Amino acid sequence: MIILGIETSCDETSLALISAEKNKPITVLAHETASQIDIHKKFGGVVPEIAGRKHAEYITPMLADILDRGYTPDAIAVAAGPGLITGLIMGVETAKTLSYTTHIPLIAVNHLEGHIYSVLTNENKKITFPALSLIVSGGHTELILMKDHVTYEKIGATRDDAAGECFDKVAKILQLEYPGGPKISKCATTGNRDAIAFPRPMMKDDTFDFSFAGLKTAVLYYVRDNPDASIDDICASFEQAIVDVLVAKTLKAIQKYSPKTLIISGGVSANTYLRDTMTQKISEFSEIQLFLPAQSYTTDNAAMIATAGFFKMLQNQFTDWKDLQANPNWTLEQASAK
Ligand code: KG4
Ligand code: ZN
Repeated sequence: MIILGIETSCDETSLALISAEKNKPITVLAHETASQIDIHKKFGGVVPEIAGRKHAEYITPMLADILDRGYTPDAIAVAAGPGLITGLIMGVETAKTLSYTTHIPLIAVNHLEGHIYSVLTNENKKITFPALSLIVSGGHTELILMKDHVTYEKIGATRDDAAGECFDKVAKILQLEYPGGPKISKCATTGNRDAIAFPRPMMKDDTFDFSFAGLKTAVLYYVRDNPDASIDDICASFEQAIVDVLVAKTLKAIQKYSPKTLIISGGVSANTYLRDTMTQKISEFSEIQLFLPAQSYTTDNAAMIATAGFFKMLQNQFTDWKDLQANPNWTLEQASAK
C-alpha cells in the first residue's frame, strides 16, 4: 500500500510517500518539506496570510516532483485540521482536486493523530493498548487515552498556552529567535536548572489539565527584575519547570489508566531533556513501552500524516472529496473512530 501524505496546517509545506502493510514496518519512500521558518522568523511568529501564500506557491511543484518518483498512491491522506485555515485549505483543496482527477481515495487526518502516529513512521513497532499519549506541540498540550487504534479520549489539556507556545513566548522575552524551543533547549544545556525557582502551575492539582501562562509571566517578571541574570540559567530553570509539570501529569495519568504504551509526540517531543527525563522515569515501569518519534518526525511533517492515514484506511475511514472541508478547530475526539 502506498500512501501520499499532505501537511500544510502551519508553516511547513510537506509531502510524503510511505509504504505500509499490516504488521510490517512503515517505510518512508519520499519526503519533501519546505519550511517557512526563515520567513516568519522576522515577525517573531507565524503570519497566517503569508503562510497561506507560501503554501500556494510551494505545493504544486512539490506535488509534481513527488508524483514523478515512479510510485502510484493507493490513498491520499491530508491534514484537514486543526491548524491555520489559510494553510489547511491549500492542502485540503489540493488533495480534493487530486482525488477527483485520479479517483484515488481520500483520507482526512487530524493533525494531532498525525503527531500520535509519528512514533510509527519509519519504524517496525506495535502500539499495545490501552495507550496513553502526551501531545506537546506549538498549538496543543493534551493527554489522550487510546483504547484501540484511531480512538481518542481526551483526559486533559492546557487551559491556556500550549507547551511549545510557552517555549516560543519565553524565547521572545529572552530575545531568542523563533521558534524558541530549540534555542531555549540549547542554552539550557549550559545553565543551572536549580538557579531560579519558577512556578510549576497545576502540577499537584487533581486534574490532568495543564496551565503554562503563569510560568511564562513568571519568566517575564524575573527578566524585568533581574536584567543581568544569566540567559542560560533562565532557560535551564524554565525548561526544568515545564518538564517537571509534563512528567508529573503523565505519571499521574499512568497511575490511573495503567497504559501499556506511552506515546510522546509533537514539536516539543524534540526536546532532549524531556526525552531523557521521560525515558528515565518510564524505565521504572517494566510493563510500559515508551514510544518517541525519531527526531526528524517530531515537528510537522507529511510522513506522520500518511502513517496516521494508513491506520484510518485499515478501518475504512475514507472521505469523499465532495464532503471534505478544512476545519481549523477539528478536535481529536471528533476524529475518533468510536
Ligand atoms: O508540532 P509542531 O511542529 O507544530 C505544531 O503542531 O504546533 O511544534 C512546534 C513547536 C514550537 O513551539 C517549537 O518551539 C517546539 O515545537 N519545539 C521545541 C523543540 N523543537 C521544537 N520545544 C522544545 N524543545 C525543542 N527542542
Ligand atoms: Zn504539529
